[in-house]
Amino acid sequence: MTYARIEIAPSILASNFARLGEEVRAVEEGGADVIHVDVMDGHFVPNISIGIPVVASLRKATRLPLDVHLMIEQPESYIADFVRAGADRVLIHQEATVHLDRALALIRELGAQAGAAINPATPVAMLAEVLDKVDTVLVMSVNPGFGGQKFIPGAVEKIRQLNQLRARYNASFRIEVDGGVDLENLQELAQAGANTFVAGTSIFHQPDPAAATRTMRKLAMEALIQKV
Ligand code: DX5
Ligand code: ZN
Repeated sequence: MTYARIEIAPSILASNFARLGEEVRAVEEGGADVIHVDVMDGHFVPNISIGIPVVASLRKATRLPLDVHLMIEQPESYIADFVRAGADRVLIHQEATVHLDRALALIRELGAQAGAAINPATPVAMLAEVLDKVDTVLVMSVNPGFGGQKFIPGAVEKIRQLNQLRARYNASFRIEVDGGVDLENLQELAQAGANTFVAGTSIFHQPDPAAATRTMRKLAMEALIQKV
């Protein structure tokens, strides 16, 4: 297995954008493994967030890998720009392109890690033909577009399914979960097989984001130990 067993990925969508550098430094100090960056175009999702210049600025502000979650239509048109700006991982939605295979190949050709994301209504089976072509599968546990939404429990079963497929085919993709992840559901998600935990509200809306990051990591690790 080539993926890290547990990664905490604070989502800057919930941070204070006027102090982005400091916010990122705080979670870095708390042991964050990657920084999750949510890009929204107002078409694929009913919200607009940030884009290429912010990724470029973040690249100068942290050494952590940047996990760029593209919630945009026809992501293939912008993949090169995001990689050039400093994205280490580019995650695109299965629902957002009719050429998923080609778009994932492009991400890897450009030297970044490729991720495929699925919305809550999309079954794992929709990714069957690309599981050997991704570094990450992202299971959305809310309908994408906003931070602070309630976790949709169906995500747990999808993570289990992916974990089984990964074992069956001896594959090495990470399983990432995004949306409503908190101290309550984190351990169940870790035991189901999730590796990368995206968390916005439950990190940046806490009084001490560094401590919140540390606690999440500790709980996730403990859940794995309990499972063994
Ligand atoms: C939702 C985004 C998430 C969001 C998660 O569309 O993809 O990354 O920031 O935020 P929380 O952790 O608050 O649900
Ligand atoms: Zn996200």
